[in-house]
Amino acid sequence: MQAAINPIADRISLISVSSTMKVSAEADRLRSEGVDVVDFGAGEPDFPTPDNIKQAAIRALEGNFTKYTAAGGTLELKKAICERHTQDFGTAYKPNECMITVGGKHVIFNLTQALVNPGDEVIIPVPYWVTYADVVNYAGGKCVFVPTDEAAGFTLTAAMLEPHLTARTRMVIINSPSNPSGAVVDRAEFEKIFKLTSERGIYLMTDECYCHFLYDSERFSIASLPGAKDTVLVAGSLSKTYAMTGWRIGFGLVPAPIVQAMTKLQSHSTSNPTSIAQKAATEALRGPQDSVAQMLAEYRKRRDFVLPRLRSIPGVTAQEPKGAFYAYPNVSAAFKNGVTDSMSFGWLRVDRRFSHERIPV
Ligand SMILES: Cc1ncc(COP(=O)(O)O)c(C=O)c1O
Repeated sequence: MQAAINPIADRISLISVSSTMKVSAEADRLRSEGVDVVDFGAGEPDFPTPDNIKQAAIRALEGNFTKYTAAGGTLELKKAICERHTQDFGTAYKPNECMITVGGKHVIFNLTQALVNPGDEVIIPVPYWVTYADVVNYAGGKCVFVPTDEAAGFTLTAAMLEPHLTARTRMVIINSPSNPSGAVVDRAEFEKIFKLTSERGIYLMTDECYCHFLYDSERFSIASLPGAKDTVLVAGSLSKTYAMTGWRIGFGLVPAPIVQAMTKLQSHSTSNPTSIAQKAATEALRGPQDSVAQMLAEYRKRRDFVLPRLRSIPGVTAQEPKGAFYAYPNVSAAFKNGVTDSMSFGWLRVDRRFSHERIPV
């Protein structure tokens, strides 16, 4: 028997292991050694999934809704998604412009694979959620990173974006509120960005994963602007909104031909998202919405608790998150004595077994 010559296909080297997964794996390892660890790796609500949603899943099981569904999701759930988006944001999507995926990450993957050709440029504002760069690289695209300004709360403006648009720009990705910074793109600025992209026929992907978790501003979707449906791509997820991370339901609201392209891809990979989870998701969208406001109120309390404490650490600065449930402290004052960046800062703490010595700032 001879080992395979090239055991792993070349394209896998285009992507790296998710750094959030690495953090969680390390936390698990330390825990198994008896270390008391608070894991800030994966962004996950600690609330249970609301009971009405769980009951819908139980009913689905008892009613034997346990078979294949259409690869792109049930018509019932597509309708529920379109209706909720209309109710929340004033958009007018139809079920043939909707696609159900195995979580929000999956719609971002599908969209990128369906739309980005090798060499196409995709603009990603920094700081960004790690997956964007990997899915663009996997499609053979070129990531164009646009820095934002810490003092301005890490929010993207049209003026920051414009110099980076070229004839090769295929897509701009905006995640507002943002993981990891909690930055929110102001409505007027988002409209200017949409003008820049739509005039050039560039896709504007809006990752609305945290769209219900806003502290100071009104809910808004750029997809509600007249004419937006041609080039705006909504990537949505039920994971955070309804504390349903494990259920794996995400969705896209995009032009019908893109739904068809993504469905083709999905039909040869995952097929349909879990039938039971689709029933639960339909209830999440159509049932009472009180849990969302309750979670937001709790996140606000936590933000108000953690922010002054982070800022009280000598040398640490932290912008106030305007949405989502993250805090994004700047620890660069500690970049000395072998600590070169935030990753080595984090691992330094791990290496010292989270002992309570002062942060070396
Ligand atoms: C910015 C952002 N988009 C999308 C997702 C995808 O979430 P999921 O695949 O769990 O629906 C996440 C998850 O952390 C995220 O932070």
